Amino acid sequence: MAARIAIIGAGSGYLPGVIRGVLHRADDLAGSELACYDIHEDHLAIMTRLARAMVKAHGADITVTDHHHLEPALADADFVFTTFRSGGLPARRLDESIPLAYGVIGQETIGPGGFFMALRSVPVLLDIAGTMARVAPDAWIVNYTNPTNVVTDAVTRYAGANIIGLCDQWVGDTETWAELLGLPPGLEIDWMGLNHCTWAERARLHGTPIDLTNALAAAPLTPAAATPHRDPARMAELGRALGLLVNSYSKYYFFHDEVVREQRAKATTRAEDIMAMLPAYYEQIATEAEKPDPRPSTERGGGEHGEFAVDVICAIAGDERRRFVVNTVNRGAIASLEPAAIVEVPCVVGRDGPTPLTMGALPRPVRGLTQAVHEYEWLTADAAVRGDPVIALQALLAHPLINDKKVAEGILLDGLVAHRDHLPQF
Ligand code: G6P
Ligand code: MN
Repeated sequence: MAARIAIIGAGSGYLPGVIRGVLHRADDLAGSELACYDIHEDHLAIMTRLARAMVKAHGADITVTDHHHLEPALADADFVFTTFRSGGLPARRLDESIPLAYGVIGQETIGPGGFFMALRSVPVLLDIAGTMARVAPDAWIVNYTNPTNVVTDAVTRYAGANIIGLCDQWVGDTETWAELLGLPPGLEIDWMGLNHCTWAERARLHGTPIDLTNALAAAPLTPAAATPHRDPARMAELGRALGLLVNSYSKYYFFHDEVVREQRAKATTRAEDIMAMLPAYYEQIATEAEKPDPRPSTERGGGEHGEFAVDVICAIAGDERRRFVVNTVNRGAIASLEPAAIVEVPCVVGRDGPTPLTMGALPRPVRGLTQAVHEYEWLTADAAVRGDPVIALQALLAHPLINDKKVAEGILLDGLVAHRDHLPQF
């Protein structure tokens, strides 16, 4: 199933993982082209050199092309893999710090940080979808650009393009829960909700249902140490309290004040930590790209991120009908959310894209929270498309972590000013 895959944001530090994913499926993708595009020419050059070297070392029948204009990268594409950060890490640093001054968590996808990221990402995606309408109307956007669900919503409702929203968190969260519950590999969890806001009350081990109430009560729940994005101790504590399996980002909702204190006590934001490591990271990639058998760093965005995206592409291209947890239009899969909502649920992915599996109602302890987050996301997509400050304020007021009109207004004003170069719609 040779395909033309445009990679928008191909200079991203996550590209080595994507190439690993492609090489993993090299036989299925034989004859394919990776059309790489990025506005950061130097990063694009390093990554395409690495990609060509890895393809050559593997002996794969894959062509890597680089593009400095969007349209030729998109032309006749079968898939448009979007993996960029509008405004880059400097903008992320603002997303992580502006809300903190108001006592609200500073996180790139949750709360006001995610709100401003949406305002920056959506116009770029709409521009891509607009160009695709002319040069690649049947292509699928396979989107990693965050906030992936809001981006998916805006593109679906306002551009009508085919889009599937990805986030690989469910892969790692499933592994974390298997460890916490002391289960062997092979756990399948019915994650349901919204991106970075999923829950589960059903799971199976090799097809056999697990009694989660008993498992949560009986398991030793010995948590591993926390990483920047996953805190197994808090997941375990919350899972027991709610009687559910929870997403690693649930801490931002249920340990909010504690996280704010931690973030304030830390000298740097996550964006600053990444900015500090990136020069050495790209240097390592550039060095490896010159070697006959390149071994790029797996420090960030190593395996699962890229493999997941490539597997989804192969599932659509080859009509494989495989089960993945992805973001798509609800269509009744979650009874507690409107049919047009973008939800994150297990889907069967084949030629027609994702078909969500029926999940039922959201668990009561998190139903109201999830519904509120959905209303916030819907309004955020509207505000991001229309550049409407009135809807923007309504979106922030709808967010469950913002309980004060003055706080919402202060954050909105600070963010609109700080990000003005990336918000042409306002
Ligand atoms: C997790 C989230 C992604 C997010 C990433 C950030 O994987 O699911 O949506 O982009 O973390 O990782 P970083 O290394 O940039 O902090
Ligand atoms: Mn994610």
